[in-house]
Amino acid sequence: MKLIHMSDIHLTTPGHTIGGRDPNANFERALAHALADHGDAELLVITGDLSDWGDRADYERLKARIADVPIPVRLCIGNHDDRARFLEVFPEARDENGFVQGALDTRAGRCLFLDTWAPNTHAGGFCAKRAAWLDARLAEHPGPFFLFMHHNPIPTHLVPMDKIRLLDDATFREVVGRHARKVRHIFFGHCHMPLAGSTAGVPTTSLRGTNHASIAVFAEKDLLSASDLPEAYGVAFIAPDYVTVHMIEFGYQGPVRVEGSPDYALWNRETMRR
Ligand SMILES: [Fe+2]
Ligand SMILES: [Fe+2]
Repeated sequence: MKLIHMSDIHLTTPGHTIGGRDPNANFERALAHALADHGDAELLVITGDLSDWGDRADYERLKARIADVPIPVRLCIGNHDDRARFLEVFPEARDENGFVQGALDTRAGRCLFLDTWAPNTHAGGFCAKRAAWLDARLAEHPGPFFLFMHHNPIPTHLVPMDKIRLLDDATFREVVGRHARKVRHIFFGHCHMPLAGSTAGVPTTSLRGTNHASIAVFAEKDLLSASDLPEAYGVAFIAPDYVTVHMIEFGYQGPVRVEGSPDYALWNRETMRR
């Protein structure tokens, strides 16, 4: 089973740019690239920061656009989103407690989409209600599960980024830890950079967004760091006994060298026999 993971699309008023890049155009490029190479994916999940400032018009354009995507699409909200406005446009995404949460069964297992949005902050929240919801969902089904969320469930150890991390991440890890054997992978966004690790023993990955890119600068203690690294989305290949996750840099503009280019041939001859 294959799934496409996109994050931090940051849709905005048409014509506006973020970091010198056009998020609406880059979302289109990402969709075109992903569907050309991975149109056989079973699911596309976009893990938040759907709109740059939670504008209703962004959600309306997103809804119209994903209606044309030929595979199922599921959405999480991020700190740049506005939950109330999102739910006005996507009322079907509301759970029984008013959060943007839900489940979808795929051939690989049950996917859970989590809401880490918190009001008036860029940091994430995972309150007692959401913890209870996740605990109940993980308890009621044998799994395997795949979790999707916006905020990072593990600290990055980049000081400015960790100021806006999931503030209840220890609670989150405690809930996941109770069911860790049933949870195969956690996909998240928010950090705009590739990250890999584990959450209470569950493998966890993130990726660069489809528009603006971060970069890890550990010396910077105050402000978030941005870069001109290529726009990206992810694809995950899920088999019964492995999960492979790629970050696909569709925005890369440089050459792609293949076997046969002069220096590659030399490297082959001197170091690698086959
Ligand atoms: Fe973002
Ligand atoms: Fe974010």
